[in-house]
Amino acid sequence: MKMALDKTLIVGNWKMNLNVHEASLYLHQLSHLVTAHRDVEVVLAPTLLALQSLSLQVNHRQFKLAAQNFYWRDSGAFTGEVSATQLKGVVQYALVGHSERRHIFHESDKDTRSKVQAAIRNDIVPILCVGETATERADNETADVIHDQLLGGLANITSEEFTNIVIAYEPVWAIGTGQNAGPTDVTAAVAAIRSQIKHLYGAAAAEAVRVLYGGSVTADSAADYLTLLGIDGLLVGGASLDAHGFSEIIKKAHHKSMLVGAERGGKA
Ligand code: 13P
Repeated sequence: MKMALDKTLIVGNWKMNLNVHEASLYLHQLSHLVTAHRDVEVVLAPTLLALQSLSLQVNHRQFKLAAQNFYWRDSGAFTGEVSATQLKGVVQYALVGHSERRHIFHESDKDTRSKVQAAIRNDIVPILCVGETATERADNETADVIHDQLLGGLANITSEEFTNIVIAYEPVWAIGTGQNAGPTDVTAAVAAIRSQIKHLYGAAAAEAVRVLYGGSVTADSAADYLTLLGIDGLLVGGASLDAHGFSEIIKKAHHKSMLVGAERGGKA
């Protein structure tokens, strides 16, 4: 799948919330609140159970779907698992290495790396999540943590593949806490991500990769992040569970794109 690189990407991660019926009602509601904008790409990551039915219900020009998780093997004796091969055609994106997967389910960098590769192999865009814990932040280790998670998750990727990879900077201490990261922290982390990718894969890869911020984003704070240098979109958890609130975030993204577009137009 070829990504639209100039679009602002807004991803709603519902985590383990909303059953199949509630997910369908939500999509119905959101589709009436949101107009499809050419400058904003909206991705919904519902429970795995709802992906199939939502993929039939959704207007694919309006919203894309993402898996919150999957197993990296394509098929075989792996009871209870779902593969990227099985998700192919149902989702366009998949979260990989979310901090809840890393910390609650003990996923390693090796698991993350295998999943990034499985997603790419199956034409699904991986959204690789990276970010430091509160302790690592207090110890000034943010750049090192990002370095290790990128190195661990992206080994064996070619520089051409960065047009189809998204990195989400999600500081663990900011997830679900209401304690969102400040602009200085986010700008520094995003700069570290791009500089690391540039160092490993070259300037074209660093420019092509899309970088999102996630962690306690709300309709009120969305615009502050969207205007930060190097940020291409948002990964929203709790605030994406309310269709009205999420539609406000999508509108902010559209307004941001219009402002940037107007600025570029003015300079041309
Ligand atoms: P919150 O927006 O609820 O902090 O969650 C962020 C997140 O983990 C999205 O993946």
